[in-house]
Amino acid sequence: SDAVDFHGEHQAGITTEVPDRLHFVAFDVVTKDRARLVELLQDWTAAAARMTAGQDAGVIGAVNGSPEAPPDDTGEALSLPPSGLTLTVGFGPSLFRDADGRDRFGLAERRPAALADLPRFPGEALRPEISGGDLCVQACANDPQVAVHAIRNLARIGMGVVSVRWSQLGFGRTSSTSRDQATPRNLFGFKDGTANLKIEDTALLREQLWVQPGDGPEWMTGGAYLVTRKIRMIIETWDRTSLGEQEELVGRAKGSGAPLGQHDEFDPINLKATGPDDRPRITETAHVRLAHPDQNNGARLLRRGYNYVDGSDGLGRLDAGLFFIAYQRDPRRQFVPIQTQLARHDGLNEYLRHVSSGLFACPPGVREPGDFWGRALF
Ligand code: HEM
Repeated sequence: SDAVDFHGEHQAGITTEVPDRLHFVAFDVVTKDRARLVELLQDWTAAAARMTAGQDAGVIGAVNGSPEAPPDDTGEALSLPPSGLTLTVGFGPSLFRDADGRDRFGLAERRPAALADLPRFPGEALRPEISGGDLCVQACANDPQVAVHAIRNLARIGMGVVSVRWSQLGFGRTSSTSRDQATPRNLFGFKDGTANLKIEDTALLREQLWVQPGDGPEWMTGGAYLVTRKIRMIIETWDRTSLGEQEELVGRAKGSGAPLGQHDEFDPINLKATGPDDRPRITETAHVRLAHPDQNNGARLLRRGYNYVDGSDGLGRLDAGLFFIAYQRDPRRQFVPIQTQLARHDGLNEYLRHVSSGLFACPPGVREPGDFWGRALF
């Protein structure tokens, strides 16, 4: 399938129509040498541009080099098409100041206020070894082999400079980012992404997604902040819940995706509508009420998460859930208040557990030759 343009005002992989497969990785920087880090970002940018065009990661390629040397591409994507691959980079809070308070790369002054550590939310059970990270790369593609190949080669190129902290595969998108795409379903069986921010909402994207001049340090203008949450779903319990209760917990019909009290998926949510018993159709603890912009000072998110199943947990249950991914202009005004509401009141919490968290500043796109991921930061 087609190649997505790597270059542009914004990084690809944010408003790009979300494809079906994900490989997400977070890295720790292991070098103390700022010059080596900058060099890596330059090398990564060149490799990312090549791989998104369907080429080998390196100029020589998987099979044309010296038989005495390891190849500059690992080979498993040979003859596969670009498959809509996008690679999106982000910088975590610890790159600016690490857990011991050290400013390893002289970047502390450049840290945006919007990249403030997320607060603790009630009920979360975060595992530090699969949370955080100095850098992240999100690979999305229509072919899982292409996404995995891209991340593997970036990790290979980064050897000695970065090491993989954690990574996550996703097998089915749970959001649409364009009105041309049908809304997919999450592992609770509900349409997910109906009320998402979409590529067509240009004015809203300016207001809610892209960092604007004057928002903070200039190097982030045209970028966006990324929050990831690995949310385990206790699907065995969910599967014993009645259809009526499932719909009440979400606030939408399972089949059509319509808000309760309406008919069609894209009918507007009416939070005031009441049923025959005079109770609100969308209850006080329904997910879509608590997450709705009217309850959160107008805040919205561009969601592009994925379903995951990481095998089973040894206790007879699938290790399954949602790898939540959301882009926004300022997490302090968007993800944090929304998640605060959800963590306190969402009826779905009984079936969910947040096990990993990530926060990253994704710089603007790579434009002219010589430009590289995060150039304006360094
Ligand atoms: C809407 C499921 C976690 C924010 C929805 C919808 C579903 C859903 C089925 C309705 C369809 C739609 O408009 O997309 C889930 C599940 C979650 C989860 C199963 C956990 C596994 C989260 C989290 C956040 C969030 C962590 C943000 C902190 C939203 C927002 C909407 C939404 C903003 C749209 C509300 C509106 O404007 O109507 N979610 N969600 N969700 N969700 Fe979630």
